[in-house]
Amino acid sequence: RTVYVNGEYLPETEAKVSIFDRGFLMADGVYEVTSVLDGKLIDFEGHALRLQRSLDELDMRNPISSEDLLEVHRELVRLNGIDEGMIYLQITRGAPGDRDFVFPDPETTDPTIVLFTQNKPGLADNPAAKQGIKVISIEDIRWGRRDIKTVQLLYPSMGKMMAKKAGADDAWMVEDGVVTEGTSNNAYIVKGNRIITRSLSQSILHGITRAAVLRFAREAQMEVEERDFTIAEAQEADEAFVTSASTFVMPVVEIDGVALGGGVPGRVAPRLREIYLDESR
Ligand code: PDD
Repeated sequence: RTVYVNGEYLPETEAKVSIFDRGFLMADGVYEVTSVLDGKLIDFEGHALRLQRSLDELDMRNPISSEDLLEVHRELVRLNGIDEGMIYLQITRGAPGDRDFVFPDPETTDPTIVLFTQNKPGLADNPAAKQGIKVISIEDIRWGRRDIKTVQLLYPSMGKMMAKKAGADDAWMVEDGVVTEGTSNNAYIVKGNRIITRSLSQSILHGITRAAVLRFAREAQMEVEERDFTIAEAQEADEAFVTSASTFVMPVVEIDGVALGGGVPGRVAPRLREIYLDESR
């Protein structure tokens, strides 16, 4: 695999980042995941805009223009022959010569930028989307700025492990009695023709897939209600689903052991998946 590190295309075995990098020492960095279908980038512009916002919120300099970033994405897709898969992008505050809580001087320390591809044949045709996934609920104990896409992913990672241990596929996080989001996706329930999902705030990531799916849902005359919901309400809903760049729209058929819609995907989530895939390609 060819990867991109600080302006260079290199074989992955030759790519290097300093041990003093603040991404490594302090999770002082942000990332984006953009999916690739038929060799084409999905929602690149949205990801580039959110990246800039994450960097601005953390006072981090963007080392690359949006045009150059698009070019690097396209070049990596080409060099690695990706038809279906993902591109991972990470920018950290860089590597001053030592460990220090104080941010390094941006005049002397450049941010580190890394991109690599992940080949995932069958991403659009994912069999899990036909069966639906099972989720458990866990307490949301993450920090308060989840709208910034930082690389602090230890708790989401632990959440996935808790789900796995419980025989489920993923976890929905709950704060003050209501669902925030999934470990790496936004969460929704469906009641009749109405889609309900938490409104945007610092408590959740502003999903790029979320924005697109809600737009398509409104265009298809579905009702969209942006408000909080509890696990109990979700367990009584007709359907549930999650969205992200890596899963698109994924039906949820079980929440904390309670089956929804007889344990099979309903009508709305599969239709939204189809619309999303059709419209984004
Ligand atoms: N995760 N919420 C969280 C906590 C996420 O980590 C993600 C994305 C989303 C969905 O955002 P988007 O639609 O822009 O992908 C919501 C990526 C895919 C990841 O960490 O791999």
